[in-house]
Amino acid sequence: MIIRNAVESDAEDLIDYMDAISEESNFLTFGPGEFGANVQQEKSFIANLSTKKNTLFIVAEMDGKIIGNLSFSGGPRPRIAHVGEFGISVLKEYWGYGVGEELLQYLINWSKNSGIIRKINLKVRTDNTRGIHLYSKMGFLEEGLLKRDLMINGDFFDSLLMGLSID
Ligand SMILES: CC(C)(COP(=O)(O)OP(=O)(O)OC[C@H]1O[C@@H](n2cnc3c(N)ncnc32)[C@H](O)[C@@H]1OP(=O)(O)O)[C@@H](O)C(=O)NCCC(=O)NCCS
Repeated sequence: MIIRNAVESDAEDLIDYMDAISEESNFLTFGPGEFGANVQQEKSFIANLSTKKNTLFIVAEMDGKIIGNLSFSGGPRPRIAHVGEFGISVLKEYWGYGVGEELLQYLINWSKNSGIIRKINLKVRTDNTRGIHLYSKMGFLEEGLLKRDLMINGDFFDSLLMGLSID
């Protein structure tokens, strides 16, 4: 497996990937058919991210297939440029093999070398025990609770706020 920056030519594969994971996990901010970007929009998203010093969009690739991804965005203005939030996912077939840990370790190392990022934030559904276990293992601390953060088919779910300082 390799971890590399997403490039514009990944756009189509990334949309297929997003469609696949939306069917596999209920812990994401989008459900089946709700990702909502077309190939051109995804290309622009990737191109736009790559112009910024405080954003990162990486994929985990195995035998030419995208099996995981992580995107992190720092704030757009000076007072919030040092802090950002990320989203992460791995194809279900590959859960539990350390792909998530590799993606997060890459983000942490990149943040330490970025010269700009001093804090990484995340939100995770309180019942996502696998995610919470992974984030805690990587040093993220619980910082708060957001009630009713997601509504899925009429049911509310709370999110845990977790963070990691980069010093
Ligand atoms: C969360 C996710 C990214 C983790 O990726 P992954 O490649 O499976 O993660 P890893 O294999 O590196 O680590 C998983 C850890 O969780 C542990 N784990 C597995 N199932 C678990 C469970 N039900 N409860 C607690 N821990 C669990 C594993 O043992 C492993 O920890 P260990 O290395 O200490 O043994 C992946 O499961 C995923 O994409 N889930 C669906 C989408 C999602 O939840 N995204 C995050 C939204 S905040």
